[in-house]
Amino acid sequence: MKRAIVAFLALLCVPVALPAASAPVAPNGIALFEDYQTWQVIAPSYREDKKQIRVILGNPIAYQAMRAKVLPMPDGAVLAKIAWTTKKHPKFPVATEPDAFAQVEFMVKDAAKYKATGGWGFARFVGNDLKPYGKDAGFVQECFGCHTPVKGNDYLFTSFAPLP
Ligand code: HEC
Repeated sequence: MKRAIVAFLALLCVPVALPAASAPVAPNGIALFEDYQTWQVIAPSYREDKKQIRVILGNPIAYQAMRAKVLPMPDGAVLAKIAWTTKKHPKFPVATEPDAFAQVEFMVKDAAKYKATGGWGFARFVGNDLKPYGKDAGFVQECFGCHTPVKGNDYLFTSFAPLP
């Protein structure tokens, strides 16, 4: 009995990897990936109508899959897209650079869990307070719908920016 109590107390001391209490959660249950700022760059992009600079990043699984041209991507792959509004550099106005943070969004691969949306779970967090986007879990239809033209590329628009 004593041993059982000791074992139980020891268990209480095991650190458990729980998401930080502060991580915002999208209406479909996907929490912000708090380490996304450490992921590797796949490509930048620029959206003319919104005048936004974006950077697309991959977690290690997504980055490796993209390098090895593995499509569809394996479970555990996550892509992030960060968007900023733009401004001209005050000392060099033909240079356009990021101004305010606009949003970060994620595509999370789990072929079984997100079967209805091509194996991808979608989440978006808006503004400096990272407000979860969407009234309810149905918001993903908007994401999935616009990504459907690239279904043949595992629903991904982005590929590596060319390098020598
Ligand atoms: C109106 C069309 C449209 C909608 C709606 C849309 N996307 Fe995208 N998405 C794009 C395009 C185009 C790109 C390519 C990069 C770029 O243009 O910035 C992209 C890229 C991405 C990427 C990087 C991987 C890739 O496919 O290149 C992620 C992650 C992403 N979107 C998540 C989302 C999420 C989450 C939602 C819904 C909340 C969403 N998208 C809704 C058009 C859309």
